[in-house]
Amino acid sequence: VSDIEGDITEVLLTEQQIAEKIAELARRIEADYAGQNLLIVGVLRGAVMVMADLARELRMHIEMDWMAVSSYGSGTQSSGVVRILKDLDTDIAGRTVLIVEDIIDSGLTLSWLLANLRSRGAESVEICALLRKPDAVKVEIDVKYIGHDIPNQFVVGYGLDYAERYRNLKSIGILAPHVYS
Ligand code: PRP
Ligand code: MN
Ligand code: MG
Repeated sequence: VSDIEGDITEVLLTEQQIAEKIAELARRIEADYAGQNLLIVGVLRGAVMVMADLARELRMHIEMDWMAVSSYGSGTQSSGVVRILKDLDTDIAGRTVLIVEDIIDSGLTLSWLLANLRSRGAESVEICALLRKPDAVKVEIDVKYIGHDIPNQFVVGYGLDYAERYRNLKSIGILAPHVYS
């Protein structure tokens, strides 16, 4: 246990704080999409935890699908290069879609994804992101649901990785500089 937790300098959001925020977002989504056939789209791999918890918190019928895109690999900087690694299995023409993301950093991934999904003729495509780094945003995107705005530091846990590690932490914390320097 000390091995992984020693790499975290500060817990930014505890497991309970995350759960409370997800419940709050779920209540808003239920109200906004009442009676609609909502498809939530998780962006692999970071959004896996948010998707799993948000989906179980929603007291309404939903469908779930997944896309895998990558904006950057093992580093800490966004490259702006977005690749589709796995596309949706669902035809979203005419569908009501909510993209679920763990974090908006530069915004490059989501601005690209939003345009891509909207071009497929969906009825609506909106975004729900648990975290956003306002100081890092390079592209302004209209985000319907935001959990927390956080400082521009490298955070990991609850789906967020550094070099594919730390996704399995239950809380979200700031990664110690000694790990990546
Ligand atoms: C991370 C994160 C977001 C994206 C945000 O994903 O999960 O999807 O970066 O960065 P941006 O706003 O600067 O585009 P990553 O590409 O690291 O893939 P992963 O989800 O598999 O970790
Ligand atoms: Mn991601
Ligand atoms: Mg990543």
